[in-house]
Amino acid sequence: MHRSHPPMTDPRLADLQQSLPDLRLKTDAADLEHYGRDWTRRWTPAPLAIALPATVDEVQAVVRWANRHGVAVVPSGGRTGLSGGAVAANGELVLSLERMNKVLDFDAVDRTLTVQAGMALEAVQNAAREHGLVYPVDFGARGSCSIGGNIATNAGGIRVIRYGNTREWIAGLTVVTGAGEVLELNRALVKNSSGYDLRQLLIGSEGTLGIVVEAILRLADPPPPTNVMLLALPSFEVLMQVFAEFRGRLRLEAFEFFTDLALRHVLAHGAQKPLEDEYPYYVVTEFASDDEATEAAAMAAFEHCMEQGWVADGVISQSDAQAQQIWRLREGITEAVARYKPYKNDISVRISAMPAFLAQTQALLGEAYPHFEVVWFGHIGDGNLHINVLKPDGTSDAEFVTQCEQVTKLLAQALLAHGGSISAEHGIGLVKKPYLSSTRSAAEIELMRGIRRVFDPNGILNPGKLFDA
Ligand code: FAD
Ligand code: MLT
Ligand code: ZN
Repeated sequence: MHRSHPPMTDPRLADLQQSLPDLRLKTDAADLEHYGRDWTRRWTPAPLAIALPATVDEVQAVVRWANRHGVAVVPSGGRTGLSGGAVAANGELVLSLERMNKVLDFDAVDRTLTVQAGMALEAVQNAAREHGLVYPVDFGARGSCSIGGNIATNAGGIRVIRYGNTREWIAGLTVVTGAGEVLELNRALVKNSSGYDLRQLLIGSEGTLGIVVEAILRLADPPPPTNVMLLALPSFEVLMQVFAEFRGRLRLEAFEFFTDLALRHVLAHGAQKPLEDEYPYYVVTEFASDDEATEAAAMAAFEHCMEQGWVADGVISQSDAQAQQIWRLREGITEAVARYKPYKNDISVRISAMPAFLAQTQALLGEAYPHFEVVWFGHIGDGNLHINVLKPDGTSDAEFVTQCEQVTKLLAQALLAHGGSISAEHGIGLVKKPYLSSTRSAAEIELMRGIRRVFDPNGILNPGKLFDA
């Protein structure tokens, strides 16, 4: 039986509703507002409507309808994105995958989990655990971001140092292209030298080539028991030495850093003070610790760093609860600074280029942002820094962004010089679009445009994101 709907006043939506009577559509002002923005909160949401398909067929039909009417479509997951990729501010149709959120299959031999794209990352992790395995990509937004969004941004997170980015864990994808074709890419093959790997092309394409509707995820063995350590550092310069020391002695699962300012914000947001005294820099590291030898190696690394003066204090978790408390200090930063509408830089360089890049960038930002609070944190073990500039009360959003963009231009030049990337893991979206050329050559961008035209000839998928057509 078909659902009955209030009639759509927009003729394009009336046509959509008529051709797909079971499709759930939302047009209430509160829904347009809710689904039209992501975590950036920089743009005013103004979508045409929200479509919430429940099947691949419905997604395909919506894309075909969009092609017929020339309506832009914004693929939408958990909208935890930090680069404006899921923003709908120009009369687009938001296509939310939130109703497509089920596990479809588990294969014990292949060790794969097949899921619909709207499933939350945490739900995927829990489903893997039920089978005695793990889906190892992990980060603070796990409860609300979707696996489809993770794939579209090639999300990284806190365990990249051990497991790599989302890209490593995608064994197969089902996508609906911008032209409305359904493609099944790679079908979980381990070996497949049969031409271009379109699956990998779709990963990180930010919703501009196709809509990910299903994914086959590779699963891993559970990690050995781990310990979590908080280290207090006297200076930034020693950070990479501490990293080398711990990496040399231990099987690291994570190596993350943050500054005293980040800690102050997290403590003000309810976290527990970890150490008696205050220090300028902190590291959270997690490492395998399953026997006396690894415990001794951890203590040896710690003591060596203390002797060298690279570490001033530290604490090691004695229980899961304590490990979580330490992790909260790092993972709580994004939420703790959210009220300051931070201007987020998400940059990376090769680990070997990090010391020289850091020296240049610290000097640059010290001069450029003397009046702003700048919170540094990130996945230092992956060469990925998050530099968050906090908006002072009393400065307008527009003025703040204008000032920050001046500095991003300088940062982009430094990245170009050091061979780095303007977006390590959040994606380009709208926020970093003006700076794409600091990371990709003109020839590369032109090729990307061409690829996009093949997948999406009418340019209906997420136009204006990543680059202009
Ligand atoms: P959305 O924000 O909904 O969309 C992101 C992009 O993907 C958009 O371009 C959208 O159009 C596209 N998209 C979404 N779903 C699909 C689909 N099914 N098919 C095609 N395109 C699609 N990111 C990291 O990489 N590492 C981190 O450590 C990290 N930590 C975070 C912590 C917090 C507290 C928050 C709020 C965010 C964090 N992020 C992190 C950023 C964000 O969570 C990731 O980018 C995540 O992958 C986005 O998933 P989403 O479902 O929310 O995507
Ligand atoms: C993180 O590492 O915590 C995330 O990428 C989120 C952020 O940069 O705010
Ligand atoms: Zn991050």
